[in-house]
Amino acid sequence: MDNRPIGVFDSGLGGLTGVRELRKRLPHEDIIYFGDTGRVPYGSRSPETILQYARQDVAFLLSKNVKCIMAACGTVSSTYPAAEAAQLPVPYLGVVDAAAREAAFVTRNRRIGVIGTAATIRSRSYEKLLRQLVPGVEITARPCPLFVPLVEAGYVDHSEAGKQQITKLVIAQYLTEVREAGVDTLILGCTHYPLLKSMIGEFMGPGVTLVDPAMTAAHHLERMLAERGLRASHESGQAHFYVSDVPDSFVQTADLFLGEYKGGPVEQIAID
Ligand code: SIN
Repeated sequence: MDNRPIGVFDSGLGGLTGVRELRKRLPHEDIIYFGDTGRVPYGSRSPETILQYARQDVAFLLSKNVKCIMAACGTVSSTYPAAEAAQLPVPYLGVVDAAAREAAFVTRNRRIGVIGTAATIRSRSYEKLLRQLVPGVEITARPCPLFVPLVEAGYVDHSEAGKQQITKLVIAQYLTEVREAGVDTLILGCTHYPLLKSMIGEFMGPGVTLVDPAMTAAHHLERMLAERGLRASHESGQAHFYVSDVPDSFVQTADLFLGEYKGGPVEQIAID
């Protein structure tokens, strides 16, 4: 048993899709979440800057005495070196590995689409893994830089019709080529994208399975905690949120991500 909290971080709000999944699967666990809302998005930045930010985010979570860290950010997971993660004093889990394995498992025609931030697609992190996992795989990868700002501004599934209309235009612009490639599996390679899942699913059609990285990573984390005897014994877990900008817009939008799993206190901190 280990009653220390699980640490989760992201560049902003997107990682809350991971928190929702963790709250659902592991209701007894405390969670410390850091959203770098003052510096979002990460996906348009250089690998050096992303690495510097990721190191600061990890150091913050370690200062909160977490028992493990989930990088609920496709961009960080594609950039943070595995060798460095292995040196951390607690287990570290990114979203890329879990999502690539899930996609390899579900594809039938070996045509897989990958969408993510510019940094994620440029890193070819998904591509490298998928080529190891699925012999002869055909990959269509596409950066979707406008998705993160749209999600952060609340232009998501279930928002008002006018907002959805704008997002649908952007989805068509980015994903037409991916749909025409005949993929049967699409990796939503950024934790913001599951907030657009219904609209993306509608555009891609019923024959395409969407892989949600935060969901698959939360599943892996659950298994890892059980295997290592790190599960908590609380009656009911609490979530505590930290952000690097004023909390107002985070508080307003967080419910869209967390759904029925209501949040907890939100505090602003200086990350750098
Ligand atoms: C971003 O900060 O650009 C998005 C985070 C992600 O890649 O999941």
